[in-house]
Amino acid sequence: MSYREMTETRQSCRAFDPARIPGRDALAQLLEAARLAPSACNSQPYHFYIAQGETARAVGKTTRSLGMNAFTVDVPAFFVIAEQPYNPSAAVGARMKDQDYRAADIGLAVSQLVYRAHELGLATCILGWFDEKAVQRLVGTSARVRLIVAVGYAKADDALRPKKRKTAEELATWL
Ligand SMILES: Cc1cc2nc3c(=O)[nH]c(=O)nc-3n(C[C@H](O)[C@H](O)[C@H](O)COP(=O)(O)O)c2cc1C
Repeated sequence: MSYREMTETRQSCRAFDPARIPGRDALAQLLEAARLAPSACNSQPYHFYIAQGETARAVGKTTRSLGMNAFTVDVPAFFVIAEQPYNPSAAVGARMKDQDYRAADIGLAVSQLVYRAHELGLATCILGWFDEKAVQRLVGTSARVRLIVAVGYAKADDALRPKKRKTAEELATWL
């Protein structure tokens, strides 16, 4: 699949097949894609907790409340992404330029992870709705948990949806 095809056909999965469970090797390939992501001053200010089996079931529970993310009951694996401190040069850069590079860094790593998953035929959904304290307790960290990525296989009848996006004119200004 070309990169263009990848960007046109990746979608957030909300219909996971509970019977199909990605193996450790596949999950390790997603981790490797995230590991190679660029980051400000190569700081890599994140840590990945990879939950499978009973732990995944427990992580999934923390993503469901107020009717949100009901589908995660069927998700067999999760990446929990915790923010880590900057390295010294990124810390100086962020302070001097008044920027939050860590949010960008985590987003880039997650992007590489989900596109590698798509390449491998795995389905993902990035999750920003979760009980942070409960996840911290589960994975054993006091670091801020910024994102969770659900990973598994889509149900066979999960169709490709048309993309709903702003137009290029709305999104960009050519100077
Ligand atoms: C930071 C972030 C948080 C998100 N949180 C959730 C979430 O909690 N639950 C959910 O179902 N989708 C979540 N999504 C998925 C978005 O809804 C989805 O990417 C967007 O609607 C575009 O659809 P697509 O990914 O299928 O192209 C999140 C995406 C991002 C980038």
